[in-house]
Amino acid sequence: MISTDQHWDTLYSNATINDSDPLNCAEILSENAFLLPPKGKAFDLACGMGANAMFLARHGLAVTAVDISKVAIDKLSVYASSNALDINAYVQNIDPKSIPKCAFDVIVVSRFLDRRLSDAIIDALKPDGLLFYQTFTKEKTTPTSPNNPDYLLNRNELLTLFSSLQVILYRENGLVGLPSSGLRNQAQFIGQKNINKTS
Ligand SMILES: C[S@@+](CC[C@H](N)C(=O)[O-])C[C@H]1O[C@@H](n2cnc3c(N)ncnc32)[C@H](O)[C@@H]1O
Repeated sequence: MISTDQHWDTLYSNATINDSDPLNCAEILSENAFLLPPKGKAFDLACGMGANAMFLARHGLAVTAVDISKVAIDKLSVYASSNALDINAYVQNIDPKSIPKCAFDVIVVSRFLDRRLSDAIIDALKPDGLLFYQTFTKEKTTPTSPNNPDYLLNRNELLTLFSSLQVILYRENGLVGLPSSGLRNQAQFIGQKNINKTS
């Protein structure tokens, strides 16, 4: 059986990085860039080819980017250094212990879900730090991948997984209304670690 890193290495082996279009990154970032701090430390978790990392670096943040795919990380590292982007990319099979605590002003996760990581992601935020999360939902209007329910969100699940964060934005259109419009097949969440939050 093919391992996770082999699977992704194969997919990324023919891919090239193109960050000239800022919309290559997840919409949760490109549509809400006004929320980002002008400087600080950012973490792109399961970064793939690093579109989110590059967006954050161009915004002025010092970015740590991790992924299980050596192929993706090698390509991102070469691209970042030849374009003077402040991105430290390294290979990591992410588990809760691998995520540093209280280290980041911004964390982005897109098109990746590992429910075991949610508490570690919250712990990795500095006070007032922001989490930008966008990934696939079980409710779909089109047959998009993945199909494994382990990688698909239940209704409102990001609100549950990150309930200790202050909600700055949540969007999940599900199956409501005109399927050709709106945010379909995915949910978006932005939360802030607000140590003064009262429930
Ligand atoms: C659908 S891609 C999303 C990549 C990127 N975040 C994006 O939105 O374009 C999922 C990524 O998760 C990575 N991944 C899967 N399992 C992982 C693990 N256990 N540790 C680290 N990265 C993992 C894959 O290598 C792949 O790059």
